[in-house]
Amino acid sequence: MLDKKTFYITTPIYYPSNKLHVGNSYTTVAADAMARFKRLTGYRVWFLTGTDEHGQKIQREAEAAGKPTADFVNEIVDWIKELWYELDIAYDDFIRTSEQRHKERVSKIFTHFYEQGDIYKGKYEGLYCTPCEAYWTERQLDEGNCPDCGRKVELIDEEAYFFRMSRYADRLQEHIESHPEFILPPSRKNEMINNFLKPGLEDLCVSRTSFDWGIPVPYDQDHVIYVWLDALSNYITALGYGDENDNLYREFWPADVQLIGKDILRFHTIYWPIFLMALGEPLPKTVFGHGWLMLQEGKMSKSKGNAIDPRLLAARYSSDALRYFLLREIPFGQDGVFSLESFITRINNDLANDLGNLVSRTLTMAERYFDGVLPEPVSSDESTDEKLRSVALHAPGAVEAEMDQMKISDALIALWELVRTSNRYIDDNMPWNLAKDPEKKDRLGTVIYNLIESIRFIAVMLQPFMPRTPESTWPQLGLENNPELQSWDSLKTWGGIKPGTVVKRGEDLFPRLNMQAELREVRGDKPAEETETREQEEHEGLITLEDFQKVDLRVAEIVAAEKVPNSDKLLKVDVNLGEKNTRQVVAGLAEHYKPEDLTGKSVLFVANLKPVKLRGVLSQGMLLAATDPEGEITLTTVDQKTTPGSRVS
Ligand code: MSP
Repeated sequence: MLDKKTFYITTPIYYPSNKLHVGNSYTTVAADAMARFKRLTGYRVWFLTGTDEHGQKIQREAEAAGKPTADFVNEIVDWIKELWYELDIAYDDFIRTSEQRHKERVSKIFTHFYEQGDIYKGKYEGLYCTPCEAYWTERQLDEGNCPDCGRKVELIDEEAYFFRMSRYADRLQEHIESHPEFILPPSRKNEMINNFLKPGLEDLCVSRTSFDWGIPVPYDQDHVIYVWLDALSNYITALGYGDENDNLYREFWPADVQLIGKDILRFHTIYWPIFLMALGEPLPKTVFGHGWLMLQEGKMSKSKGNAIDPRLLAARYSSDALRYFLLREIPFGQDGVFSLESFITRINNDLANDLGNLVSRTLTMAERYFDGVLPEPVSSDESTDEKLRSVALHAPGAVEAEMDQMKISDALIALWELVRTSNRYIDDNMPWNLAKDPEKKDRLGTVIYNLIESIRFIAVMLQPFMPRTPESTWPQLGLENNPELQSWDSLKTWGGIKPGTVVKRGEDLFPRLNMQAELREVRGDKPAEETETREQEEHEGLITLEDFQKVDLRVAEIVAAEKVPNSDKLLKVDVNLGEKNTRQVVAGLAEHYKPEDLTGKSVLFVANLKPVKLRGVLSQGMLLAATDPEGEITLTTVDQKTTPGSRVS
């Protein structure tokens, strides 16, 4: 156990000052996917999240809500924990800064700084942004407002303790420059050096006296410790740093990845490493500042309603769909836009069409053609088989390489390459045709086997990103009690699933959604009849009765059929329309009907299509046929007693 590779990942700890919106969930969903991925690939993982409960902002908000601060905070912390439960966030520890374990250890850290001469007493006369809990100088303001959140700053004038940041500034700059992986993405590094380190780091005020919701300074109880010093320490106090039992700390620190939003980069790449240097502890390997999730109309805030409430979105569309969207839509590190339209489009395209369809049509065929008993594959050198196998065997390495660089969206793109290749494999092999020919039973079995094995590969790889989808796929593949075939290691070789396994189609993984209905119900868009544009939209694509009457639909009797030379797909069909001469049409039926089986059928026919030539053969109309979702084609026959040439309307 102990010689296992370890991986320690943290998220910021959230202010329980308001309910979280989908943008806040972004950090934690990404951290969870990373943590699950590392667990799946054999690491011993520690994933920490929690809540940042002290400070003036929270105290004021509780007062405004008319509640004792502790009660106010407890309610929101419960809500946050439920949210993480609903989004399948599998953290190993949830730290609350109001817990005794944290408070004691932070007191020790503060005392250590003081005794070491890093902290001195003085007076702070200056500006403060309470929503960001951040000190600013006049020079840093943006038109007189907080440069981070744009809100008004306050002038404060109180006795305070200060931390000698300047002592460590050069060492920090040196560390940042010699460790390119310390601040990621790399673009964020220069911003920190140029805006904060080069102009000269000012000493940081690390205590407050004008309110009391915080951890008291151990030897001077009129002061509470500055909330950022308190909060940043959580990353080590949660591991037992400063305690007799600090096994977790010794096992996991330094953190492998500290994930944060770019707005709190300064605290994590300047103050936090300096505090660690002052403690004589190693710095985290990487602080990754991801981008912001915005709305089309600007920044997210809870007042923007249902469409960004993560619990509502997860309840309505499934937490897997929400996780997929957050992880896939935005290249990790960049800003991105959240809109209900793009969310639903992803569900319909990637999840319902690509993934859901692959699973449902494969399992339908396995049941239809093999009673759900997985056939034995026959070795083949078919190029489509080779392609499917090689894409499958390449995919785990590709996913891992992207995850190692924190490119979560690219990891999903690599995974979807296999989903798409599998769908193409169905289209290329047309199992419904193989099924018509008893001599092709072996080939059909091989195709179905390969598809099921490919779905197994996909389900294994999906686990970190969308944990519920594999859970509902395993029973369909008969693998619900088979941890070995659910493991990452099982993807080293092709052919893990055993012939004879009983598979069973389950419910559709992701039913298709109606975009307009969703926008109306979730976002409150106007119902159709209320606006003209909506009426136009609804009528778009519809035809009038006159349009329909332009089509001359007839009953046609097939009198002869034969293959078109040099074509696998086309048949030349002669039909009787009750006219003097028969008509000849070219139809793409060769893979679905034998010519001799067509003769005598009465079918629907479009009699006034402009003639065209296909493969040099004249075609004077069109036979109507239905194509089912698996690509199987059936002619629309009518009762044979109907007189050829009868009009259809
Ligand atoms: N309490 C501090 C963090 C202390 S860590 C020692 C804090 N809390 S927060 O609740 O305001 O924000 C938590 C996280 O959510 C931050 O990483 C922040 O960047 C992120 N986000 C807040 N809004 C966001 C978006 N709209 N999009 C992406 N991330 C967002 O800061």
